[in-house]
Amino acid sequence: MCGIVGYIGDKQAAPILLEGLSKLEYRGYDSAGLAVRDGDKKVKVVKSKGRLSGLAEKTNDGKSLKGNCGIGHTRWATHGEPSETNAHPHVADDGTVTAVHNGIIENYQELKEKLQRHDYNFYSQTDTEVVVKLIDYYYKKYQVGPIDALAKTMVRVRGSYALVVMFADYPGEIYVARKDSPMIIGVKDKECFVASDVPAILNYTRDVIYIDNLEMARLSTDGAVFYNLDGDVVPKESSHIDWDAKAAEKGGFEHFMMKEIYEQPKAIEDTINSALNDGKIDLEAMGLKDDIIKDISDITIVACGSAYHVGVAAQYVFEDIARIPVRVELASEFRYRNPILNEKGMVIVISQSGETADTLAALREAKEMGIRTLAIVNVVGSSIAREADNVFYTLAGPEISVATTKGYTTQLVASYLIAIQFAKVRGKIDDKQYDYYLSELKTLPEKINKIIDDKDRIQWFSAKFANAKDVFFIGRGIDYAICLEGSLKLKEISYVHSEAYAAGELKHGTISLIEDGTLVIGVITQPELYEKTVSNMLEVKSRGAYLMGLTSYGHYETEDTANFTVYVPKIDEHFSACLAVIPLQLLGYYFSVARGNDVDKPRNLAKSVTVE
Ligand code: AGP
Ligand code: GLU
Repeated sequence: MCGIVGYIGDKQAAPILLEGLSKLEYRGYDSAGLAVRDGDKKVKVVKSKGRLSGLAEKTNDGKSLKGNCGIGHTRWATHGEPSETNAHPHVADDGTVTAVHNGIIENYQELKEKLQRHDYNFYSQTDTEVVVKLIDYYYKKYQVGPIDALAKTMVRVRGSYALVVMFADYPGEIYVARKDSPMIIGVKDKECFVASDVPAILNYTRDVIYIDNLEMARLSTDGAVFYNLDGDVVPKESSHIDWDAKAAEKGGFEHFMMKEIYEQPKAIEDTINSALNDGKIDLEAMGLKDDIIKDISDITIVACGSAYHVGVAAQYVFEDIARIPVRVELASEFRYRNPILNEKGMVIVISQSGETADTLAALREAKEMGIRTLAIVNVVGSSIAREADNVFYTLAGPEISVATTKGYTTQLVASYLIAIQFAKVRGKIDDKQYDYYLSELKTLPEKINKIIDDKDRIQWFSAKFANAKDVFFIGRGIDYAICLEGSLKLKEISYVHSEAYAAGELKHGTISLIEDGTLVIGVITQPELYEKTVSNMLEVKSRGAYLMGLTSYGHYETEDTANFTVYVPKIDEHFSACLAVIPLQLLGYYFSVARGNDVDKPRNLAKSVTVE
């Protein structure tokens, strides 16, 4: 959603803060600001609406803001329109407290009214200004230090926050408090860093400390000290980030998205290997011992967006291979519908960022119901990763582009590995089938490379149809799940309207939308359903549709039906989503490029939706 940074050390803070915020731009934002302090002088605040370049211009790339202690913010508005006034940092009227915030203060209205009764005034429409002044209120009313003032505030506030705070009476110190929103602390000799995500600090330190929910910390040139709500010191170990700094850069590609499409073979290979022990799938390492697997009655998969589409595909695989009942739910629906779950069931939450608010809330709902939870997550130390009972980490590495690609395919592979292991442990497949499935999975990397090598045909086709008004994706079974993801990829980065339909559903209404030249993409990788879907493709073709077929090598008869056919290498049909999605990722990419869009940072979207 937004980006927060903070620095205290022996260097000028402003340039470090600006660079850190630039590494977080991918998170999506609408305004930005800095607050820097030189020794015990008054804090200087500079804010600007729009891109970071505006802030850099106002501060001469940070050079006009002197001081070695500072905080910065890129805002993704939730309360109050994007504006300079609403941009962070926000300040208590007499300058006692200055802070930036990522998240939502849910009870900000009641708190605002309370503070107004105590003669506080408000200059912005944000919830953040309320929490800043609440800190100020407790700090003054109880005459306590920053940690106690923050603790009292945290007890009173409902919502999510990653707060980075400076107190006028405490020069050379930065205070942080966290609940639900992402935050990482970087440490180095005589320097401390705080940020929403690792790329912001990777150029300065690889040693990080994960701050947990409802914890606070004091950062100074003496290091980072962590506290719990009771004000007790919490000992912490630092972790070393192995990411290659370049991994967070574009590596010669025009867009992060294409770089990440190319990274899929390795990401998938790494993810598969991470789950193997002596060549066999080993889920014990993540806490899923065989006796637990045997005892699970059913699975509920909960996620958002593309991660939800993984769940839709995984449901077919789990039920067909492992013969275990699986339900797939949108996290934003699940968390409010008072779901009925079997106490012997398992909830699997899927999330690339591990910070998606709806998915995190669904995870907590399942935990409150006493249901075992497994998270499939890409970001180590993320909130979802740390709160689930068991975690299967995908090894996709940092995914910068808002449109997920390697995040999606590695999540798919994780779900395949879990399904195969469940099937084996629960006696639904024998050793021969187990070895077959595993060997099929291991062919994914080279097959994806083969598809990517053929990308020019997709580029040519995309240029032809880049001005399409509507695009329909149709398929059955796992092909329908692929359509869901293909349609989202197209919509979110090309802004072309698109819908994914179970092919059998078309005649129940949607087919009335088909006109002359409407682009319909028929996904037909499932042998059992091939003829059925081809019939549906003919139905739309007879009404004027222009047909693209997406199928496996060998099904050359598709060209009798489709105007344009894309082939992917053959693979066991359970795993075809991992291959068929690649041409659709490329299709979305090339549509977006042809339309001159900002491929990596599409309008209105953010990489991780950490607010409701
Ligand atoms: C996918 O391209 C989108 N950016 C979006 O649907 C995303 O998958 C969704 O917001 C879930 O994000 P998560 O995997 O980080 O939880
Ligand atoms: N809710 C705060 C605001 O609207 C912070 C939003 C964000 O995370 O950027 O200013």
